[in-house]
Formats: sequence, C-alpha cells, structure tokens
Amino acid sequence: MTDSDARIEEALAALSLEEKVRLLTGRDFWNTWPIEKIGLRAMLFSDGPSGVRGERWDEREPSLNLPSATALGAAFDTGLAHRYGAVLAAEARRKGVDVVLGPTINLHRSPLGGRHFEAYSEDPVLTAGLATAFVRGLQDNGVGATLKHYVANDYEDERFTASSEVGDRALRELYLLAFENAVVEARAWLVMSSYNSINGVTASENDLLETPLNSEWGFDGVVVSDWTGVRSIAAARASQDLAMPGPLGAWGDALVVAVREGKVEEADVDRKVRRILRLATRVGALEGFPARDPAPVESGAAFAREAAAEGIVLLENRDALPWRVDAVGSVAVIGDNAAHARTQGGGSATVLPAYTTSPLDGIRAAFPAAEVRYARGAVVQTGLSPLPADRIENPVTGGPGVRVRFLDATGHEIFAEDRLTTSLVWFGGDAPIAESATVELTTRFTPAEDSTVRIGFATIGAGIVSVDGERVVEADVLAVGDDLGAAFLNPPSATEPIVLVEGRTVHLSFELDLAGRADFLSGALSFQFGTEPDDSEPDALIAEAVEAARSAEVALVVVGTNSLVESEGWDRASLALPGRQDDLVRAVAAVNPRTVVLVNSGSPVLLPWRGEVAAVLLGWFGGQEFGGAVADVLTGRREPGGRLPTTWGESEADVPILDTKPKDGIVEYREGIHIGYRAWLRQPMAPAYWFGAGLGYTHIPLVRLDAPATATPGETVTVSVGVENRGDRDGKQVVLVFAEKPGSAVDRPVRWLVGFAAVRVPAGGSAVADVAVPVRLLAHWDDGWQYEPGEYVLHAGTTAVDLPLTARLTLR
Ligand code: BGC
Repeated sequence: MTDSDARIEEALAALSLEEKVRLLTGRDFWNTWPIEKIGLRAMLFSDGPSGVRGERWDEREPSLNLPSATALGAAFDTGLAHRYGAVLAAEARRKGVDVVLGPTINLHRSPLGGRHFEAYSEDPVLTAGLATAFVRGLQDNGVGATLKHYVANDYEDERFTASSEVGDRALRELYLLAFENAVVEARAWLVMSSYNSINGVTASENDLLETPLNSEWGFDGVVVSDWTGVRSIAAARASQDLAMPGPLGAWGDALVVAVREGKVEEADVDRKVRRILRLATRVGALEGFPARDPAPVESGAAFAREAAAEGIVLLENRDALPWRVDAVGSVAVIGDNAAHARTQGGGSATVLPAYTTSPLDGIRAAFPAAEVRYARGAVVQTGLSPLPADRIENPVTGGPGVRVRFLDATGHEIFAEDRLTTSLVWFGGDAPIAESATVELTTRFTPAEDSTVRIGFATIGAGIVSVDGERVVEADVLAVGDDLGAAFLNPPSATEPIVLVEGRTVHLSFELDLAGRADFLSGALSFQFGTEPDDSEPDALIAEAVEAARSAEVALVVVGTNSLVESEGWDRASLALPGRQDDLVRAVAAVNPRTVVLVNSGSPVLLPWRGEVAAVLLGWFGGQEFGGAVADVLTGRREPGGRLPTTWGESEADVPILDTKPKDGIVEYREGIHIGYRAWLRQPMAPAYWFGAGLGYTHIPLVRLDAPATATPGETVTVSVGVENRGDRDGKQVVLVFAEKPGSAVDRPVRWLVGFAAVRVPAGGSAVADVAVPVRLLAHWDDGWQYEPGEYVLHAGTTAVDLPLTARLTLR
C-alpha cells in the first residue's frame, strides 16, 4: 500500500455513511463537499475545454479564449495539444480550478452535430493522439482532465433521453478509442458519463463504466456525471462515482436509505469515496498532498495566436496568397463575421474573454498604410445581441456597464451588482436567484448611429423593457420544446422596434419576473438584453459590399455561422451558410478577382462558390486572437498550419452520415465502423475536400517511406516518412499513414488512419517524420481484439486519397 492509499483508507474509515454519501454529490454547481475532519477541502470543477471559465460566469473575471477543438484538430500536432493543455492548466490555477471539464472527445459522426466544434475530428486515432497529449498538458501541471462525454454522445437533439444504438465493434474501434488511449497512456483523472443512453441503458447506469473503463483499462479516477445526468439509485450500483451538480439530486438521503435496506452495497459507496479522495490527493485537496508544481507558462495570448494560425486551413489558393504587406494599397473587408467574429461556439464551453480581435482588427493592424474599407454585406448574427459595451453607462456608478438589482416580493433590494455587459448568466456564484422575485437591469445607452432597431430581451419568463420610462416591450416568453437546458442556453426573444438617434442617450431598463420559473432554472439565470439587427434590405447590404470591393486591390470576405446555428443543446438543421452569404461571396468575387474568403465556423459548411474565388481559408472559431492569426496567415508571417480533421462535403445529399434526429428516441449508428472518410471512400460521390486536405505556402512532397517488413501484436512500430521542402519558404507538412487489408476475411474500412505527424521543414531542406503505429490499430474487435495475420498495405500521404508512398507489412 502506498502512502496515499494508506491515507485514503484512514480518511475513509473516519467517515459515517451519511458523510460518505454526501461526498458523492456536489455541494453546488461546481464544487464538491469539503470535510474538515479528514483535511479535505472542496474541489472546484470548471468548463472547458477551450478556456477555463472559473466558478462564475462573469465578464469581470475574464478567461483566455483559445481556438475551438476543431482548430486544434486541424493542426494535427500533439506537441501543440500538450501546450494547449498546459496553458489551460495555468488558467485553471489562476482561477483556483482543480478540474477542467474537457477534453470533449466524441467524434464528428455527422457534420450537423451541434457540438462538432467542441470535438477534434471524425477520426478516432487523431482524436486519441490529441486527447492524450492534452490530458498530459493539464495533469503534468497538477490540474485534472475530464474525458467527456462517455460515450456515443455525438449529437444534441433529445440529448438527455436519446439512446445511441451502436455495436461493440464500432464502440471499441471508434467511439471508445480516444477514451482508452487517454486513460491507459495519460492516466486521465476523470471521465464524464454522458446524458444519452447507449443501447438502451442511460450512461450513468451503463456497464460500460465498468467494462472496459475500469476492468480492462485500469481507470482509477472519478466518473463524474454530466450535469444532472445521475437520475437513479441504479447509477450508484454502477461505476458512476460522483453526481454533479448538487446539493440536490437522485442520491443523497435516498442513497443512505438504499444502503441501509441492502439495495446498494456500502462497499460500492466506499469505492466511489476512495476515488474521490484519490482525486483530492492528485489536485492537492487533501491535507498532506500538495498539488504538483506547475511548469513555467508561456504567454496565453501569444499561444492563442499561434494555435489559431496552426489550425487555419488553406483549401484553395489560385496564386492569391500570401498578400505582401508592402504591395497592397487597399483592402475591402466584408462580412458580419469580419467585424463580429465568432471566436468560440455556444453552450457550456463558453468563456468570457477580456477582448477578442476580429479579422477586421487584424487587417487594420497588419496593413497600417493601406486603405481598409469595411462593409457588412449580409446579416449573419441574427437574434439578440448585447448592447455594445463601450456605449453603455451604469446609472449608479457613472462608469461603463449596467446596474443589476435582485428584489424580493416587496420590491426590497436584496442583492445588487455592477456588470459590464447586457448578456448575463448566473450559473453558480452569489446572486440569490431562488430567493428573488424580480431582477432589474438599468443602463444609459448612447447610440453610435441613427437607426431603427428592435429592442428587447431573450430568456424564459415574463419581462418588461422600458425606454426613457416608457414601456415598449411587455411579454411572457415560453420555452420552445421541452429541453430546458437548450432553452437556458439559447432562449427565444421578445422585441419591438424603436428609433435611435446618434449621440442621444436613452435610459433603458429591463425587469424580469423570477417567481414561478421552472424548477430546473430556479438556481440559475441567463438573459440577454439588447437589440436585433434590421434585415429588411439585404440587397442594399450586398450592393454596398460590391462597391467597397470593386475599387479595392484585394477583398477579404468573412463568412460564417452564428450562435443560433452552432451550439450545445441542438443540432444544425442545414449545412448551408445562414442568410445571404453565398450571394454575397459571388457578388464580390464577380467584381474583384482577388477575393479571398475566410470561413468562420466551427464545423463544415457548404462552399458552393469555392471554384469562383481566389482563395479559401477556414479559420474555425479562432479564439480571442483570431484576427491577429488571420492577418499572420494572409500576409505569410505564418504558414496556414491546418489540414482538415474531418471530410467536408460538396452538398448535403452527398454526406454519407448526416441525420442526427432520434427516431422514437433512438439514433442508430447503422454504419458501424464506417464514418467520416471511411464512409466517403465506400460511395461514388466524392467530397469537396477530403480528410487531410489543406495547402501550405511551399511545396513539401513526401519522398520516402521506411516501414518494418513484419510486426507482432502488442508492439508499436515506427514508420519513417521522408519529406523535402522544394520551395523557398519554411513550411509545415502533415504526414498521414493509413492501413489497408486487401482480401480481409472481415468487414474493414477501405483504409483507416494508423498514425500521423506534423513536421516543420526549412526552405530547401528535408526532414523525416517518425510516425508511431501501434499494431493494435490493425486488429479488429470481435469479442476481444483479433489480429488477422498476413499482409497489410501501409500508405503514406497527405489526405485520405493523396497517398503517394506504399509499404507492405506482414503481421505474424
Ligand atoms: C455539458 C457538459 C458540461 C456541463 C457543465 C453539460 O450540459 O454537456 O459538457 O461540462 O454541462 O457545464
């Protein structure tokens, strides 16, 4: 027995059944319970995974906003993923966070998946490699990582109740693989069970939590539920350790009774407690076990900028890029997302950065001598936007922002705070939501221009908006559908038109009735107060953009999605860009042959004009330094470092696995092991861009492949791929190694990824990428890992179909 085991046993022995059971449910939204007599403090959990929000959802305590997981997936770089984890660990430490709720390692099964942006790839091996590195980056610095969501949680519709019907083989070879690697290789400290059921059994009660997780992979950490995902005493009999959030929930007193009545073994409770105490020793929450010292950290902002550029994918380049700073005299920057970029997706992963740089900011900074003209071109950000932070004044302090007051039923103020935004979320923190009858926001707003806008609020509940003391909106907004989580994250709005005059200050107030809200919402609150754009003249917006582009030397059109399109809580209805953006691109490209399009989305969209423009870049949700990174890539200061981590289709009809809608509560993973490029390879219609697609600014062909002739189960072989940089700039190449098994006795993908590496090659130089290929990846699951002996073909290349080099490997 180690020292920590002995200490854990001693602590466990000192606890009564009630105390042990109490430890198994959170104390509040984000903390576990402290127990002073055993020297245990509370442990703080926080979302993740593209930043660390901290205990409060509060713009006054900002967080670093890193590029989305899809951007990290596109970098194909485990070194970068490790640094990403380390930078997050520093953020966690700064915010007193012990456990980060990430990485999200579900797969891109359908491009419509609402949380696609939050996961890395359609490929399990790429996902596994990045996850393992990310976990090490966090945990090497003393902060716990949470692999989520276990498992087959690859869509959002009916997410609390749907069952993913998926066979063992697909589970083992695809959906569990990244969990397995990150547990076995990086010893992840936590796993989060998902909301959905797997083959009819809800995740928090599912045997998959025991086998393979504990019994085969030796997981010794904590299985935490997804928030509210523990719904039964049955989950206490399963290998579900911790129910979050608390303090209420399905366990508590009911679990004490169940143990007393012999319905749950006390030994099961003890096992869970041991795991929670072990986590405490790891994060430094149990006396005598300090957290590991963090390594010195690099600058978060500089890392954010580098990581964003490493993820940017250059899909088309007709001699257009890079732009030379000294040779560009005028730039037209066009698009809603050019000025208001989405730097992250919506939902629980949201963080509140201190600032963000837009592509427009990035261009202005990178081309100080050029004339930069901006035109909106199309309305993309539909729905309510908060009032601009630099134009609102707190009527009480006279400083920037708003005053928020919580009132009891007699109208007496019980709590007040000064906030900096009109988009507010209380999900943890001190505000007495449940005890208040009303919340009231007041501010003074000075418009920057004359306009007619719709003013109002978005939340679930009855609210009143007044302008200069006069009521303009009075409405009771009801939830759409029965997913209260989705309603909480992205509620419907009520607005009315008003006329604003440049420079004329208006007094605004919003009152929301908090009494009588749904139970789920009683301790949490979110609302937006602000305006909706006027979209009544779309042709005029396009015409304006065309004028800006016509006489400019080059044009950058930034297209993208909005917060109603990509978010946790629902799946996308379409792959098309919202609004008139396709028309906008075509109209601009028709008058300016040097039109570059930057796509600002976290997941695949259709690019019907991709052959009509000079260049196409994908920037994903690029994090708070997005604009700077975009400028770095446009000007060639940095390489476009990304390659597609997921195949992008030409049209919706071509996409092999599109539908995510449960039928009678069931999502059938009928395709088995054939998702992503594996599915595309089996059908006649080719995609627009294959897995791995993406160009650099130099030419780095793969010239040599060295692989061993034989291999045996259990070993990891090294496949070496030689590359040569034939251009005059330093560059990056992503090397992919695929396997095929011609004439296999079992159903196999046409080919499947078995290893990858990112290499940097100096101008005119060469390099060797050593790609580790675990022989396990040649095995298939059939009631155990089965190794089919004989010859396998290894292909090295850059996409799922561009594979110039071949070697043969015999499995003994
Ligand atoms: C999400 C999780 C998240 C949790 C806490 C859930 O709705 O599915 O990913 O960690 O909320 O915010």
